[in-house]
Amino acid sequence: QQNTFIRNLLQRMTLDEKIGQLNLLTSDMDVTGPFMKENYKQDILSGACGAIFNAYTPQYTRQLQNMAMQTRLKIPLLFGYDVIHGHKTIFPIPLGEACTWDMALMEKSARIAAEEASADGLHWTFSPMVDIARDPRWGRVAEGVGEDTWYGMQAAKAKVKGYQGSDLAANNTILACVKHFALYGAAEAGRDYNTVDMSRRQMYQFYLPPYKAAIEAGVATVMTSFNEVDGIPATGNYWLLSELLRKEWGFRGFVVTDYTSINEMIPHGIVKNEYEAGELALKAGVDMDMQGGIYAGQLKKLVQNKKISMQEIDRAVTRVLEAKYKLGLFSDPYRYCDSQRAAAQIMSPAHLQAAREIAQRSIVLLKNSNNLLPLKKGAHVALIGPLADSKKDMIGNWSAAGDHKKAVTLREALQERVNLAYAQGANITGDTGLLKKLNITDTGRTDEMLQAAVEIARKAEVVVLALGESQGMSGEAASRSDIGLPANQRRLLEAILGAGKPVVLVLMNGRPLTLEWENAHVPAILETWFLGTQAGHAIADVLLGDYNPSGKITMTFPRNVGQVPIYYNHKNTGRPLDPNNKYTSKYLDVSNEPLYPFGYGLSYTTFAYDNLRLDKNSMRLRDKLRVSVTVTNSGALDGEEVVQLYIQDVTASVNRPVKELKGFQKIMLRKGESREVVFNITAEDLKFYDRNMQYTAEPGAFKVFVGTNSRDVAEAVFELQ
Ligand code: IFM
Repeated sequence: QQNTFIRNLLQRMTLDEKIGQLNLLTSDMDVTGPFMKENYKQDILSGACGAIFNAYTPQYTRQLQNMAMQTRLKIPLLFGYDVIHGHKTIFPIPLGEACTWDMALMEKSARIAAEEASADGLHWTFSPMVDIARDPRWGRVAEGVGEDTWYGMQAAKAKVKGYQGSDLAANNTILACVKHFALYGAAEAGRDYNTVDMSRRQMYQFYLPPYKAAIEAGVATVMTSFNEVDGIPATGNYWLLSELLRKEWGFRGFVVTDYTSINEMIPHGIVKNEYEAGELALKAGVDMDMQGGIYAGQLKKLVQNKKISMQEIDRAVTRVLEAKYKLGLFSDPYRYCDSQRAAAQIMSPAHLQAAREIAQRSIVLLKNSNNLLPLKKGAHVALIGPLADSKKDMIGNWSAAGDHKKAVTLREALQERVNLAYAQGANITGDTGLLKKLNITDTGRTDEMLQAAVEIARKAEVVVLALGESQGMSGEAASRSDIGLPANQRRLLEAILGAGKPVVLVLMNGRPLTLEWENAHVPAILETWFLGTQAGHAIADVLLGDYNPSGKITMTFPRNVGQVPIYYNHKNTGRPLDPNNKYTSKYLDVSNEPLYPFGYGLSYTTFAYDNLRLDKNSMRLRDKLRVSVTVTNSGALDGEEVVQLYIQDVTASVNRPVKELKGFQKIMLRKGESREVVFNITAEDLKFYDRNMQYTAEPGAFKVFVGTNSRDVAEAVFELQ
């Protein structure tokens, strides 16, 4: 029935009307790229635009949909938006949320985001971003779940499920868009939009699986990336978009470009002009042009000159119309514009409660000497720092529709619960050039501010210092070459430590930072990322022990930038580190070890791991190998632990990483309680791309590691027959 409807519609469409469906334009409600097109409303009225992004609210989308209903064929508009970590109720940035190691919660936040977005007129989110990233200089690490492929696959599935639900026709589900296809997270030197160059083996083994997992989970759309893939920009890459995505993986939805990425193939040096760019993109498999105006301007000429066939146009148009059909827009173009539903659901108490819970679980305790945390209730606390009371920064980058005025700061939350003195102490950054770019005004009162902060520190029992990055220092187009605390914040930290009071450093940032000095000098460090609307409450809950932290990092924290890229699942090399042998793989001036390894995070209690055992020491391809370990809460408080399972294929036809995550379980243990945690390993967990690029498991020795993070593990061995 669907095909007949679309086939009939297609037959009635003129070439101009068809091309219009492939044109996605931004409204002027928001800016997410380098240029705007002023007359988008005119284009809607003339049928020259099939989809709009950066427009929401039931009223506004209704107004624009009304315009589409005045066109000859009344084809409804599709409304897309960057609903990245919540729509109005903002959840932690994805890199923070990933620290929950809780797929059900990650699905839940996507579900709530879809509920709110769909009530607010939206049909389509440009999420999830599943780009694997091993370089914290890249500002967009904030928007992904970190460095691990297997973890990235689980997260991709959870997010697609959360947004799309089980029925796209329901008016509370939205189309998801997996991005940025492909390899966007591997930009050289962590500089956004930079060149990517990697082997097919590296792609298949480490970078492509999360996109594939999203496709298998039924994601409706795919966004191309700005970068090149094997020398050809993703947006014009036939191998990537047609052979791999469609033929090999069977993707059936539509492909949209990132902002003007068809146009960008000219500076990439792959086409001479817009005419050639349009031809290359459409033939490669791009269905919809985001904001570039290339399809709108060039496709007609390309058809007239017989460079592109009507069949090729119809193929792309059909995919776009199918998505609109699935959403039910042809039966009711206004079904997502419901002011009453928006008023009832957006930022409802239940959504805010979920945001607080997820925020609590995203917090990672990095250090806690002498059990400085949790703070004693009733303690006299000095709260200091440029991030202690900054609403805008609480909700982080890519919180597009989020209203930062509704965010709860740490100062607001703490002052309800402890005896609090507050001082800002410093601006976010002392670098005036950067301040200007980030639209931050430097009050120029730096010394005065610092002095006032030291004074309140001296009078307090304990100091909570909220430092880190402003929300604009990570995210798109926000790469940094120095990923430490800005110099003036470090100066503040040193001055406060000089006051002689115990200091808890509460970090807010969008990427792993280099914290070697801080780790050596500050007794307690809490990583809180940008936690969203309920940030302040969640941090206060953890500081005061009302929630015992359980987050674990999913991206390695380097000691210094020189170690980057640094990731836990590296290869051994032919000369693995031997500190006593000069000619082994290492640095002269820094250890090979990161500061905090992948999977790391402390709790207010402690966990002991004992008795790692395998039910057999060799398995066949069809067997299951049972791995068990006893985990005991050996501390004084109830708490949650993420028990992690890693595997190494010791000798194989191509070299394999020293460790790869293959499972985890998050468990709650009462103090003193012990539990046997069981994992079942199957051949699927042992597979990789072999010398002939076949995905297979090879016989031989394997190591199994189980532990509290990727470094501190117990190990056992078995043989695959
Ligand atoms: O979805 C984003 C993408 O991630 C980066 N460029 C702009 C797009 C739309 O806003």
